[in-house]
Amino acid sequence: MAVELLSFRRTKDLKDEGGSGGMDPHIRVRPMSSRDHGDPFSMSGAEMRRLGHKVVDLLVDHYQQLPEQAVTTPAKEDYSGAVLGDGFGERGLPADLVVEGVMHNVLRRAMPVNHPRFFAYIPGPGNFMGMLADTIAAGGNMFCGVAQQNAGPTQVENEVLDWLCELFDLPPEAAGCLVSGGSVANMSALIVARDQMLGERRDKAVLYCSDQTHGCVAKAARLLGFREDQLSIIPSDGQYRLRMDVLTAEVMADRARGRQPFCVVATAGTTSTGAVDPLEQIADLCEEQDLWFHVDAAYGGAAMLTAGGRVQLRGIERAQSLALDPHKGLFQPMECGCLLVRQREWLGQSFRIEGAYLLDNERADGAINYRDRGVQLTRNFKALKLWMSLKTYGVAVFRDAVQKGMDLAVYGASALSEIGNCQIMAPPVMGIVVFRLRATGDKEDEAADNQLNQQLHDFLQEEGYAFLSTTMLSGRKCLRLCPINPRTTTEDIQRTVERIGRFAAERARAPGQERPELIKIIQTDVDSRGGLGDAADRDAINAGAGNVPDGF
Ligand SMILES: Cc1ncc(COP(=O)(O)O)c(C=O)c1O
Repeated sequence: MAVELLSFRRTKDLKDEGGSGGMDPHIRVRPMSSRDHGDPFSMSGAEMRRLGHKVVDLLVDHYQQLPEQAVTTPAKEDYSGAVLGDGFGERGLPADLVVEGVMHNVLRRAMPVNHPRFFAYIPGPGNFMGMLADTIAAGGNMFCGVAQQNAGPTQVENEVLDWLCELFDLPPEAAGCLVSGGSVANMSALIVARDQMLGERRDKAVLYCSDQTHGCVAKAARLLGFREDQLSIIPSDGQYRLRMDVLTAEVMADRARGRQPFCVVATAGTTSTGAVDPLEQIADLCEEQDLWFHVDAAYGGAAMLTAGGRVQLRGIERAQSLALDPHKGLFQPMECGCLLVRQREWLGQSFRIEGAYLLDNERADGAINYRDRGVQLTRNFKALKLWMSLKTYGVAVFRDAVQKGMDLAVYGASALSEIGNCQIMAPPVMGIVVFRLRATGDKEDEAADNQLNQQLHDFLQEEGYAFLSTTMLSGRKCLRLCPINPRTTTEDIQRTVERIGRFAAERARAPGQERPELIKIIQTDVDSRGGLGDAADRDAINAGAGNVPDGF
């Protein structure tokens, strides 16, 4: 029975006062109105099942129909008006209407990062078991901040983190924590680096990264209270990797100036081109100069699953801290980022939380309280999706999927290099090809080139077959093709490149035109089975790899 406590005195006190024991006469039990009874959010079991099945059916339809659908919306986005009726009324709407409204008015207008021809930014291919895992995590509303009464989720997270530490050849003392994504992983790593390397005086501290480093590192430095001049930006070389000679000289010069170099952030797979900084040389310098070696492997880390990737990432195992993003290269639904460090006690030293109200969950026999390994106390169950998808598909499927993305980028670079006036700007490492069209052949006209490439981007976006994003390399506007979705086919790449080729040819014929006639997609007869399953496809990729010109 629900009671309302109007005032409270202990039953013992009543006895001492000669009272009868039993119910304290000062507690007035007021019957609840009939309206207050029961769960106001309740639905019958049958209704919950029906709605749940409906959501799964709609999601599976959406997932299966994606390849046949345009990847962008041609019309200008409309952000005005309400998604479903005006405001939030006192009385609710029928649940079916709300679910269908979301499917039509929200999901279909969301950026389809898991579409097989979404080649922009870093795609988020996701996987179906991961989606189910997130459903279970939300359905069970599992709280992953403490180990007390929570052995199941804690053990799952331990197993996932042990696997990741092993994948990166970290020592047995290594540990980690799942976080929302690469930005928070990098910021958490810099918190640990600061706490381990710097005392109270931080005003002379300097950290280093390349001009290709993801913007979240500068943001993290700013949020941690470092001034702009405390982040030293080192130029990159012709392949967009941090220049060791400049880094070494800057560290020495800063020491000579009385500053306090303390950390180098290397990137293993830059966002623009996939370039990998010289990890072994940076590790050597950090050892010699007593600097913290952090690697942002948010994009490229997944390549550790492949033989070629392990060669490219040599030296990563020497990092003091690593930022990973399983919601990118390990195909997990958002959000799933990860911080790993070489020594588990470093995490506790930065992130341990205390409170009189938390003492009970200190006692779980030395089990890990993840609240002490990262910023959050209340944490959702991110480990479950990695755990369930690894268990279900097996590591080999992940390895092949990562390899396929890298192969498709090589294939794409080869196909693009066949287009006249198309210049490949960086080697297609780690599953990214960066290219640009040249407006006037070999003659350098930066403004015209930049305009042409922006027009190509806009044309592709308006046409809707494939979506690519742009980046700037040394002041030049380029396009990026990032084909890491395992459901992308060679045909998807071929047809995308054909469209780019037609655009280039039209522009060469009519250079002044705003944009060529749109190539309308009436029906895309794209292979929706996905995969480079057959030998012919794989041979085509290998042949393509051989055709990629040297020196780009
Ligand atoms: C190299 C790199 N680091 C960090 C990030 C930021 O990760 P998130 O968007 O998961 O916060 C990204 C995102 O693309 C990235 O590519």
